[in-house]
Amino acid sequence: MKTTLLNKLVRQAAAARRRAYAPYSQYRVGAAALTASGLIFQGCNVENASLGLTICAERVALAAAITAGYRRCQALAIVGDNQPTPYPCGACLQFMAEFCRADCPILLATAGRLTKVQVYSLKDLLPKAFRLTRK
Ligand code: THU
Repeated sequence: MKTTLLNKLVRQAAAARRRAYAPYSQYRVGAAALTASGLIFQGCNVENASLGLTICAERVALAAAITAGYRRCQALAIVGDNQPTPYPCGACLQFMAEFCRADCPILLATAGRLTKVQVYSLKDLLPKAFRLTRK
């Protein structure tokens, strides 16, 4: 995958992060999912006074893609606040496993240093995803 495209994905995640609704944690996250067809869908974390209702940025981005009819994600960028590395939470990793292949690149960066991108594959972060055989 071209570096310019991956950089674009990180910048889109950073743009989404600026729209995060995080009045409770003050921790803003943005995500951008690149679909197999080359479209980009953004997501940000959306918190709630009933804290458990909070939705993570990654799941919002993937749900936006799926709502628009795109179920295959070929790369996902996540931008969090400065330090430490914004590794996705376990729930988001499992969610990604539904729509991303095991070798899907997951790009991680912090808002203050968008050019320093750490790249993992989904299987690096979630080696054993839960699977259910389709009926
Ligand atoms: N958060 C995400 O958006 N993605 C993750 O993978 C982990 C956590 C959000 C949820 C909450 O709004 C804030 O970060 C602090 O947990």
